Amino acid sequence: MKSILAINGGPKTIDKNFNWPLFDETEVNAISDVVRSGKWGNPDCGDMVKAFEDEFATFCGSKYALTCVNGSVALRLALIASGVRPGDEVIIPPYTFIATSTIVLEANCVPVFVDIDPDTYNLDPNKIEAAITKRTRAIIPVHFAGQACEMDKIMAIALKHNLKVIEDACHGHGAEYRGKKLGTIGDAGCFSFQSSKNLTCGEGGMVITDDEKLYDMMNSLRNVGRVKGGQWYEHHFLGCNYRMTQLQVTILSAQIRHLADQTEKRHENGTYLNSLLSKIDGIQPLARGVGETLHSYHIFIFKYDRSKFNNLPKTEFSNMLAAEGVPCFMGYPQPLYKQPLFQKKNFMCYAIPEEVDYTNVCCPVTEKACYDEAVWILQHAMLGPKEDMDKFAEAILKIQKAVTT
Ligand SMILES: Cc1ncc(COP(=O)(O)O)c(C=O)c1O
Repeated sequence: MKSILAINGGPKTIDKNFNWPLFDETEVNAISDVVRSGKWGNPDCGDMVKAFEDEFATFCGSKYALTCVNGSVALRLALIASGVRPGDEVIIPPYTFIATSTIVLEANCVPVFVDIDPDTYNLDPNKIEAAITKRTRAIIPVHFAGQACEMDKIMAIALKHNLKVIEDACHGHGAEYRGKKLGTIGDAGCFSFQSSKNLTCGEGGMVITDDEKLYDMMNSLRNVGRVKGGQWYEHHFLGCNYRMTQLQVTILSAQIRHLADQTEKRHENGTYLNSLLSKIDGIQPLARGVGETLHSYHIFIFKYDRSKFNNLPKTEFSNMLAAEGVPCFMGYPQPLYKQPLFQKKNFMCYAIPEEVDYTNVCCPVTEKACYDEAVWILQHAMLGPKEDMDKFAEAILKIQKAVTT
């Protein structure tokens, strides 16, 4: 029976190219114009960059938006500008991209891992307070896969303990929580425009905030410590050159025209796929989070139960599914704290307190997600017609039948 599977040379269940990024002559012409203008970077293109920042701020409903070189730097700017000091603790989930943790270490702060909710894979708000100490200064909730965290609970905890909240919305462009765009609820919201992201220019980042002081500080840190009204060679703070170029902004300005429609499309397909996969024994799509009103489906995640697939390991299952033509992946192989960086404390020159030790950290929900359960379908697969979703479900059923009969 297994021989009919595409991985063994059988026909694919779905045989089409899921391209990303999507673009047309608009991007090509706009980039040519910029190249011809010779205004490629700072300081010549300052107004054009600002115009895109204003457009992004308006799109999100925030007062300020600040471009930078990538999502990691967006988080770095927000955290440092929020006033953390060496040795401060920052609460983060262990089911996220490494950058959510490294920017904390690079600020000489200590990442404290709090497990995720088994239903949504987002930071579990009910476990945060137990991790708060007198050194805790901030929480970085990650809207994982584009699904909103339970921000009401997180903001209430932050208010009670006087903590900063920096939303990692690197997966959440255009997504909403109780009708508000992700990134607008905490003190700052950070986005990535790296190649795989729902809004991309290859590499890039953005921070949004309503806080003028925070914005001014982030602006200075992005621009080698310069300040408003200062001289070109006058530097007040320990920043760096994290500025975006006009070439990146030009692509983003063209791409953002499609963001709202694409987000709706992914949301619609995600909802439909959710209903299809829920009917398959051994497959459970993640639940929609409390208060989540628009999911950007940067990733469509479902839980895989190998006991219903003749004990087929998750990795083999996801390889089979990919071979069937479904753009999917097994996701993170391990929780962040299991990475050699944390286990071996390879913190280089950064001043992380000696006593910090990650060898005994255990977040069971994250471990289960990484090792056994989570399978990701990637965002560009969610932009096609409904029939694609039918095919994704069909591919899973085909594998199940093949391995169990
Ligand atoms: C959740 C999360 N946070 C932060 C980042 C960092 O973004 P960038 O790669 O643009 O630095 C990523 C990138 O994949 C991410 O997935």
